[in-house]
Amino acid sequence: MLRYLTAGESHGPQLTAIIEGLPAGLKISEETINVDLARRQGGYGRGGRMLIEKDEVQILSGVRWGETIGSPVTLCVVNRDWVNWQEKMSPHERHRDEKIRVTRSRPGHADLPGAMKYNHRDVRNILERSSARETAVRVAVGSVARAFLDAFGITVSGFVVELGGIRAERRGLSSDRLRELAAKSELATYDPGAEERMKAFIDSVKEAGDTAGGVVEVVVSGVPVGLGSHVQWDRKLDARLALAVMSIQAIKGVEMGLGFETARRPGSQVHDEIYYDSTRIARGEGAGFFRKTNNAGGIEGGITNGEEIVIRAAMKPIPTLYKPLRSVDMLTKESFEATVERSDVCAVPAAAVVAESVVAIEVANAFLEKFGGDSLAEVRRNYDGYIDYLRSF
Ligand SMILES: Cc1cc2nc3c(=O)[nH]c(=O)nc-3n(C[C@H](O)[C@H](O)[C@H](O)COP(=O)(O)O)c2cc1C
Repeated sequence: MLRYLTAGESHGPQLTAIIEGLPAGLKISEETINVDLARRQGGYGRGGRMLIEKDEVQILSGVRWGETIGSPVTLCVVNRDWVNWQEKMSPHERHRDEKIRVTRSRPGHADLPGAMKYNHRDVRNILERSSARETAVRVAVGSVARAFLDAFGITVSGFVVELGGIRAERRGLSSDRLRELAAKSELATYDPGAEERMKAFIDSVKEAGDTAGGVVEVVVSGVPVGLGSHVQWDRKLDARLALAVMSIQAIKGVEMGLGFETARRPGSQVHDEIYYDSTRIARGEGAGFFRKTNNAGGIEGGITNGEEIVIRAAMKPIPTLYKPLRSVDMLTKESFEATVERSDVCAVPAAAVVAESVVAIEVANAFLEKFGGDSLAEVRRNYDGYIDYLRSF
């Protein structure tokens, strides 16, 4: 089983993750992880923080000479802004300074419920950890998970598919082509026409001191039949993916395949009929069973069915607005309008990279549950044996 924890505050010295359960023999490099960290930082509509932080990962344990050795892998992303926060975020009692307390909670953030829950009179004790800065190190973990999946021909891609009510059209293109187009897009979208209109929308909300949300989609290609299970609620892969994606800051809705649209259609227009073609086995496509549609999004009864996994998530607009929102000071109980120094106007492209990362982690986890071994060679033996078995099914 693959598991991980993250630690670290937004303006603390660093973000850290410890990953356990990676087999030995997996190639990992800081350079590859840094490519994904840069993707998370980019995208049209980001704010000032992204200019300060050029994220780079350090691998601190579990990897020797470019390969995992089976022990826990520690990843660290330094916060470059730390130099300006050493006393304000110091662990030492001698640096306590009540004058810099933040007592004004921002709507749409963990600030007020967090302060009430943890008995803090300084919102900073909450906002530092609830900040989406934490996603930097989750993307680093996701990058490692993707390196693992890549060894088995599984690709995980995140796209922006809707922003400001403007939808990207797939136009019958293959997933490979969609990936190529999205890689060139400042909005991680595969429809250049829609991208222009989405950018104009971001410009207009920025002009109005407002913010924008949108919909991201993650597509996983090359997944074998049989990841996840129907036998217990917490083994269903769709449920686990939904938890992982919903855990991303600002995600407010998750759907698999046709998702909410299934509720609007009759069954005959929802369920993916089953076909069989023995020549698919000879062409190396695993079993001969296939579907002509993928409304289920690649998972039936909590188990992958061999089609692409398709999961979408709705991101709410960034809650920190230049146009102030009303709130109440925690101490004085006086009403005020929350002001902003710097914030993202739109972080949907970054959320697509984060969603891609958490999906990769869950799929890698399910893969290791099914084919688990202590070394990559052992996992491969288990996987190859299963694929051979599927051919004769
Ligand atoms: C990649 C990413 C970047 C974000 N950037 C900001 C930001 O600059 N300003 C902000 O107020 N919220 C930002 N958010 C959203 C907040 O972190 C989030 O809404 C808040 O922590 C409350 O959590 P909830 O929306 O899940 O309830 C960002 C979210 C993500 C995924």
